[in-house]
Amino acid sequence: MSPSERLVLVLGGAGTVGSGIVKSLLEKGFQVAVISRDATRLEKLRNFLPAEAHSRLFTVVGDVGTEDGAEAAKVSLLEGGRKVTDVVSSLGFSWWQGGAPHTQSLKELQWVLETLLLSTFTAWKAFFPLVWENPRGSYTFITGGAGDHLLRPGTGFLTLGASGALSFSKVVREEYPDVPCKLNEVKINMGVALPEALAPGYVSHLEVGQAVASLVEKLAVSHTVLCVDSPADLQVLTSEGKL
Ligand SMILES: NC(=O)c1ccc[n+]([C@@H]2O[C@H](COP(=O)([O-])OP(=O)(O)OC[C@H]3O[C@@H](n4cnc5c(N)ncnc54)[C@H](OP(=O)(O)O)[C@@H]3O)[C@@H](O)[C@H]2O)c1
Repeated sequence: MSPSERLVLVLGGAGTVGSGIVKSLLEKGFQVAVISRDATRLEKLRNFLPAEAHSRLFTVVGDVGTEDGAEAAKVSLLEGGRKVTDVVSSLGFSWWQGGAPHTQSLKELQWVLETLLLSTFTAWKAFFPLVWENPRGSYTFITGGAGDHLLRPGTGFLTLGASGALSFSKVVREEYPDVPCKLNEVKINMGVALPEALAPGYVSHLEVGQAVASLVEKLAVSHTVLCVDSPADLQVLTSEGKL
């Protein structure tokens, strides 16, 4: 199946990490779909992408953070007989540093968990069945090192949400050991930023996008966690589709 025959749904595709993935997939000739809660963010994404790729980008305004919202977004996405072959899940937020736990409210923790973990679950529940029986399809979770440990003081809720997303990805691999689709996690143990906002310890979302697009294209591994610890790891993933 050539990339032009595959439709990749990038959940969180209007975000920092997701937009790099969307761009690289389109450069490789894939069709790409993005769901966002915000039409303005989808317009911004479209403006960031080359005009020649616009006809292969399908956008839906929707909220995949509830079961009903994810189902409604799915119905819109599949209109006209579209078939999703691959999913990349890059939901969440870039950073949270609200303070030490004793200064925080339950409401704040609920918001963090909803955004990082619960949306990852509700979206997966709606979209995994579209791809799981396809040996030439894939489901890829994007996670980060924040799930392993506190990145710096005041980021504890980020660790709670990110570790939930990490664990969910692990649970899916272990609960579904035999699914034909390629089921992987790209764990980025570095910061990811737009090229104009790069700082020490950060990589460009474009480099991350190339690496993830190559993983999706090559379908070389399954039930694997691809840990990206350096720009060199991204280069290997880009050229080989695995680490
Ligand atoms: N940025 C980093 O430094 C970094 C490093 C390593 C790993 N990661 C991981 O990468 C993932 C994405 O991070 P990011 O930096 O790209 O964050 P981001 O720029 O805030 O983008 C996150 C995206 O998730 C989407 N989203 C969240 N809840 C949603 C919902 N209920 N329905 C639809 N879309 C929803 C947002 O969509 P809307 O358009 O609707 O707001 C947004 O586009 C996170 O899991 C993060 O842990 C990030």
